Amino acid sequence: MAGMKVNNVPTRSIWRVENHAAVDIIDQTALPHAYRVLRLASLEDAAHAIRSMQVRGAPLIGATAAYGVALALLRDAGDAALANAIATLGGTRPTAVNLHWALARMQAHLMPLPAIERGAAAWREAEAIADEDVAQNRAIGEHGLALLRPLAEKRGPGQRLDVMTHCNAGWLATVDHGTALAPVYAAFDAGIDVRVWVSETRPRNQGLLTAWELQQHGVPHTVIADNAAGLLLARGEVDAVIVGADRIAANGDVANKVGTYLKALAAKEAGVPFYVAAPRSTLDFGCPAGDAIPIEEREGDELRVVHGSGGDGRPAALRQLAKDEAVANPAFDVTPARFVSAVITERGSAAAAALSTLYPEERHG
Ligand code: MRU
Repeated sequence: MAGMKVNNVPTRSIWRVENHAAVDIIDQTALPHAYRVLRLASLEDAAHAIRSMQVRGAPLIGATAAYGVALALLRDAGDAALANAIATLGGTRPTAVNLHWALARMQAHLMPLPAIERGAAAWREAEAIADEDVAQNRAIGEHGLALLRPLAEKRGPGQRLDVMTHCNAGWLATVDHGTALAPVYAAFDAGIDVRVWVSETRPRNQGLLTAWELQQHGVPHTVIADNAAGLLLARGEVDAVIVGADRIAANGDVANKVGTYLKALAAKEAGVPFYVAAPRSTLDFGCPAGDAIPIEEREGDELRVVHGSGGDGRPAALRQLAKDEAVANPAFDVTPARFVSAVITERGSAAAAALSTLYPEERHG
């Protein structure tokens, strides 16, 4: 499966700048209205990028945090500075466990080393995390294709395969390829006539990022309001739902962008397979069940103010609710394992409640 391209140029969502002590990212707060590359040169830059969602998506948050540790150690590679970097980055967003997974890996790798060796080692480990993410997502694409192919064959020759997704779990949310979209790209590249229903994903509209990246790859897609999903599923206009995840508990419960649960409920009622695609870094075997997953509550202005481009094509904000209007803005929800047809990982697919069969080394006791 080929890597992703922007205007036909192979591009990752984060990369180390050659001969510079810095990484570049694609500013996801500007997309799809403008394509802007931002340079991160310090711990503060990396923490701000995650908190403000210039970078977002569970695997990309993890990779950015790893690079953030490397950036912090440029200034000071002592024990206290390393601990401070890990605490600062760990406090940026609570739900995606990939963040904590990446930081724990950096800490375990760096702490035993003498300070003089930590700087170079941190860059190497961050690069390894990014490269492994790319390889794992490529594998998720292949395993997901094995699930989509029979659905396409069931549709019959000349019939399109309609896949629904929520939020953005594409290459922008990872280092490359994506999780939920990796099987879609694999299917498209294999010549399957696939179309994606792209759920807008209020209030941050990550669906627009999905539409943008599908457009870059030439994959047919149609954007829908989140509230249209139930109707399309009930009408038989969806062959499969595929979403990503921010954290999957040991019992298979899945935290993902708020609204995922509603799609799972509607898919179950309609008899449509509901797949979750996620790499090892999203699996939290230490978390017993979904109700123990912390759900991020974000600021109310994400609902009160919408962002887009104005008549002059420049970025514009439009207030739709007064400042003092009460709003609630939980950013994620939890889909119980029983609604998930299968979880697709880099090691293959399994029932959500049986994920540990793919990771026997994680079974304790
Ligand atoms: O708040 P976001 O945009 O970071 O949330 C992203 C999601 O919920 C994605 O579906 C999830 O991280 C999987 S990304 C491959």
